[in-house]
Amino acid sequence: MFARKDLLGIRDLSQEEIQYILNTAREMKEKVDCVEKRSHQLDKISMATLFYENSTRTRMSFALAGEYLGASVLDLGVASSSVKKGESLIDTGVTLDQMGIHVMIIRHGMTGSAHLLARNVNACVINAGDGSNEHPTQALLDIFTIQEKKGRIKGLKVAIVGDIAHSRVARSNIFGLTKLGAEVVLAGPSTLLSKGMEVLGAKVTTDIKSAVKDADVVMGLRVQLERQKGGQFPDLREYSHLFGVDEKILRSARPDALIMHPGPVNRGIELSTDIIDGPQSVINEQVKNGVAVRMALLSVLIEGRKQNETAYQTWKSHRPSMEYRQDTRCTH
Ligand code: CP
Repeated sequence: MFARKDLLGIRDLSQEEIQYILNTAREMKEKVDCVEKRSHQLDKISMATLFYENSTRTRMSFALAGEYLGASVLDLGVASSSVKKGESLIDTGVTLDQMGIHVMIIRHGMTGSAHLLARNVNACVINAGDGSNEHPTQALLDIFTIQEKKGRIKGLKVAIVGDIAHSRVARSNIFGLTKLGAEVVLAGPSTLLSKGMEVLGAKVTTDIKSAVKDADVVMGLRVQLERQKGGQFPDLREYSHLFGVDEKILRSARPDALIMHPGPVNRGIELSTDIIDGPQSVINEQVKNGVAVRMALLSVLIEGRKQNETAYQTWKSHRPSMEYRQDTRCTH
């Protein structure tokens, strides 16, 4: 059983909790492939996506995951909502809570935004990316994909290459992969590396060749130009020349190494087009597995909540208790 109200990050999850979600995702995957196997497990459950930052994969796959399990799925449509009139994150969340939304899925540029929302609503909150902090469902689908392809996580070498400093995907993957026994090596230009990552249990290097050497998995990360303040590398061509993963770099990895990327990919910058579309790439499978993993997460959160009868009764009544709220105001 999954006993949490929310999924805010991988950092706090135990190895057993991660594995429980991954095992459930394996069962869910056949529902993605086969319409007849889809259920109404989340009948009468209402979900809302609150995306303050752009998304294709995460937002669409959460919406489909909910629909495949029979939930009602709404999108706040931040750009056309009262957020644009200045409504705070907490007030937005409490408003949706009063309407009877059971699950809120939030992506926001502020670190801790999902935690703030979770403290102030009765709904389950799922973090779909908060600033440079965590993107837990991306890490879960990455780990699921690696486990599916390699049969294990323990003992694997995973090289994560690119814009590490701004990457919530890297942070969540470090937490998850190291908990499950993988070795994680991070590589990128010194301006895009964070020494703090070593404290989290990963090795950090500016030498991409040593990072990729004998790796079982090579994961490229998107250069997040929108989060950079400028001057972190001369230009994209220079970046791609020094830190892009191409056929030549890949030769030093294990011959059966997986090529991964959370997407969206800047083709020819982080990864060369031939390896994105090559036989070792599992990038499209990551996308598909994202639906199964998000179905699993919705399922375990709702089932866990139903089994905690007291919490479930409070939840069903849709009345956020005032002591549950705090005064902090976050205006996006
Ligand atoms: N990987 C990922 O989060 O992609 P989106 O921004 O398209 O959701």
